[in-house]
Amino acid sequence: MKSQKPYKTNHFKKLDSTNTYAMKNLAELSDKEVIIADVQTSGRGRLNRSWVSAREDNIYLSIVLKPCSKVSDKLPLAGLTQYMSVILCRVLENYGASAQIKWPNDVLSDGKKIAGILSQASIQGESFRGLILGTGVNLNFSQEEADKIDQPATSLNLILGRPVDKKAFTEELIDGFFENYEKFLDKGFSYIEKDYIQRCCFLGKRIAVNALDPRETGIAKEIREDGSLVLENDEMQEKIITMGDIVCLQPD
Ligand code: BTN
Repeated sequence: MKSQKPYKTNHFKKLDSTNTYAMKNLAELSDKEVIIADVQTSGRGRLNRSWVSAREDNIYLSIVLKPCSKVSDKLPLAGLTQYMSVILCRVLENYGASAQIKWPNDVLSDGKKIAGILSQASIQGESFRGLILGTGVNLNFSQEEADKIDQPATSLNLILGRPVDKKAFTEELIDGFFENYEKFLDKGFSYIEKDYIQRCCFLGKRIAVNALDPRETGIAKEIREDGSLVLENDEMQEKIITMGDIVCLQPD
């Protein structure tokens, strides 16, 4: 007998964005419901970027999570994007690709972006309405399409030299996410710390942090036990970075 999945999927041919749909319909969506679109007409990335979403054989999905009904600092909700980045790496590695993480949650392969995560929480006063974990994975781009993206990007088919089946990858990804989701909620970042750090591609290197104003440069020293990043800036001061974007200034 086929075992029951712990999640429900909701499939659409076309949406503006799975995150936007999930946010608009959050009240009606259940905990662990996954919104999947064949294509997105307004795919969104972090930091107001857009996410190229026209190909039906790439992944665009949003996982709706409602682990609590009241705002609580006991649950590691902010760390869920880092948890998802580790799951993405594991699935890519199972396919035979290399996978690296650029803090906080960009997933790269051969140093180029292959997957991204956009998380959005909905909070009203004390009540927590839900977290939307939007995930895009480049499975099947032509080299020309990958080259047109506004940052160095790649796709799993380009790495493996063969087309990639979207259905199988999607299932492996969502199953992998929910396999240890409860354990992650219970234990927090420490549960993935080792897996996360071993894939971090910038530790010990010179980076720029775009979240800080003015932008600061320095050495990425370490990842702390809560998933934040320690920057040793050019004045030799340690700064703890909890959000934003980094750029690696040092070639491999
Ligand atoms: C990033 O900038 O790295 C995050 C990209 C996130 C893209 C995914 S695709 C599915 C979901 N819907 C969106 O509009 N964005 C996310």
